[in-house]
Amino acid sequence: MVLAGGLSYERDVSLRSGRRVLDALKAVGVHAEMHDADVSLLPALQADPPDAVVIALHGATGEDGSLRGVLDLCGIPYVGCDARASRLAWDKPSAKSMLREAGIPTPDWVALPHDRFSELGAVAVLDRIVDRLGLPLMVKPAQGGSGLGAAVVREDTDLPPAMVGCFAYDSTALVEKFVPGKDVAVSIIDLGNGPEALPIVEIVARDGLYDYAARYTAGLTTWHAPARLDAEVAAQVSETALAAHKALGLRDLSRVDLIVAEDGSPQVLGINVSPGMTETSLLPLAAQAAGLDLGNILATLVTRAVA
Ligand code: DAL
Repeated sequence: MVLAGGLSYERDVSLRSGRRVLDALKAVGVHAEMHDADVSLLPALQADPPDAVVIALHGATGEDGSLRGVLDLCGIPYVGCDARASRLAWDKPSAKSMLREAGIPTPDWVALPHDRFSELGAVAVLDRIVDRLGLPLMVKPAQGGSGLGAAVVREDTDLPPAMVGCFAYDSTALVEKFVPGKDVAVSIIDLGNGPEALPIVEIVARDGLYDYAARYTAGLTTWHAPARLDAEVAAQVSETALAAHKALGLRDLSRVDLIVAEDGSPQVLGINVSPGMTETSLLPLAAQAAGLDLGNILATLVTRAVA
């Protein structure tokens, strides 16, 4: 069963990922059906339990561990990490704390719950953040994906609207030091020999910001796979991504998003346990660059989940 849709802000993206995953599996002879993660899911899982589930859900439920917990309860195997690791990776401040404890570089940050913002007064809070982290900044929902609710803050005056945009998606904001450099993504898969990094994908968004439109509108972003990096830097990027995947206790597949700073040092921005699989998504591009077929990758992961 390919699970897609759901009720998160990333529903449309998930449906696109789900269709691509379904087609890829069918193309290699795997019998699969797509199911929406709605109220009809539990009865369907109980009435006719699938051999395994491929989670093509993005956003809350799909990535916050809750659905994986349900599958565990039903004894149905699935591709990807367990509920606990998923919950950890999904919450950006928790994931960043884990990375930092493991010595993996990630930009400095402040997690700001909306209550605190109201309690201390916006001006005082924002002044403190700018004093602590400097400018520019990146504001993102603590839990979220696909660039929704994210904004770059270059001037003090950009901060209040960025916070408002962010709080529309989550009650906690992650305010992060903006590190200028190259946006790259490393997809990681484990086909039975331990986690391996696929070729690094470099992302060049036409307007400079890899936001929701840039991610899912053909022509707004160009990619370089493999990324245009010196061999030494590329090796360090892949190693850092693998270390992040392991530090968070992930399994089967993930995508680690990083920035390669101007001095060549990589910093981890986020980790996706249910990476996008749409026509413009990065894991399928990385697989293609490696000469691997997406259907074969997924079929191997399904076989491993069932074993
Ligand atoms: N959250 C989207 C689907 C991604 O990171 O690929």
